[in-house]
Amino acid sequence: KTVSQLGDLRGKRVVIRCDFNVPLNGTTITDDGRIRAALPTLKALLGAGARVTALAHLGRPKGEVNPKFSLAPVAARLGELLGQDVKFATDTVGESAQATSAALTDGQIALVENVRFEPGETSKVDAEREALAAKYAQLGEIFVSDGFGVVHRKQASVYDLAKLLPNAAGELVAKEVEVLSRLTTDPERPYVVVLGGAKVADKLAVIDNLLSVADTLVIVGGMAYTFLKAQGHEVGNSILDESKVETCREYLARAEATGKKILLPTDVVTAAGMDFDARKALGEVTVVPADAIGPQREGLDVGPETVQAIAAEIAGARTVFWNGPAGVSEIADFAEGTKGIAEALASSDAFSVIGGGDSAAAVRTFGYSDDQFGWISTGGGASLEYLEGKELPGLAVLEGND
Ligand code: 3PG
Repeated sequence: KTVSQLGDLRGKRVVIRCDFNVPLNGTTITDDGRIRAALPTLKALLGAGARVTALAHLGRPKGEVNPKFSLAPVAARLGELLGQDVKFATDTVGESAQATSAALTDGQIALVENVRFEPGETSKVDAEREALAAKYAQLGEIFVSDGFGVVHRKQASVYDLAKLLPNAAGELVAKEVEVLSRLTTDPERPYVVVLGGAKVADKLAVIDNLLSVADTLVIVGGMAYTFLKAQGHEVGNSILDESKVETCREYLARAEATGKKILLPTDVVTAAGMDFDARKALGEVTVVPADAIGPQREGLDVGPETVQAIAAEIAGARTVFWNGPAGVSEIADFAEGTKGIAEALASSDAFSVIGGGDSAAAVRTFGYSDDQFGWISTGGGASLEYLEGKELPGLAVLEGND
């Protein structure tokens, strides 16, 4: 069920869960993509005359009030983007929240303080979450679920609240589900999936599920070294997860047996390590073949030959999904691989989807605008779990999804 099916919303009190978990430098929002992504639903609700109270989390304050994780900067930015005042409640379900929400008139919006300041929000005890959800339910008569980035969490404002009020998916949640379901069931071919990031363990279930639907799987980033090891190569001091080498070997064998292509780096950018504070490589930076990484060397990005091969795959694709950087992209010495993938995607006319906070932040930092890509998913863990084929509690609980 979507917002348009909720009937006449004039004067109705709507509680909406958004994902405003944005990166902050002090109180400065460094990427407001998730706030922008919430605008279509919020504008639709406000335009229809609803009285909107928004719930959201920021970071992981572990059930304690911590000013470092206050949503106040988000309320200010949201107000700028909406072009209207966003009233901010200084607590989540206390007097401020109740009074601020109750005082709204038609077409007005309030944001309450970080839901994760409440211990019940992330509690593993059902009754604790349910008790908090009952307080959220006092802030409205209809629930709209639009925090796609958090629908994989069984938390009070995502899951339990939906059981208490008539509800619908917001436009963002509906769009994310439409895009991601296309990637798992009906992609236009050739379909190329590019997976990067540091930890191979985080991506194994996605590889497992997408290996049957994608035509080509490109593996880059820190996780590529476990695959290179599975091919029998030494990887020096590069990130390696010994416990997953066998699984990677099985995936390589399965790909071969089913006529799928797994593209691994053929050259890598190496250094003796890196100095995070100085944001540069330790010692000399060298590009070497992927099967010739020296014992004291660490692979920190893919090399130019690999970038060319990936760009060629992307150029020939009709659908591309990309999640995870190709190297340590926040350090200039090791950003070229990730830049190369972003460039290939931006200039391709395939339906391109970018998932995951790091890749999304990387393309924006490189200066690309969102409209150069088919879709930039607001989900990190949520999009990956969706692509793993898992049931997401925050979606399953919504009306019409059971
Ligand atoms: C995210 O940043 O992926 C979402 O906001 C979920 O945050 P969490 O991993 O802290 O639940």
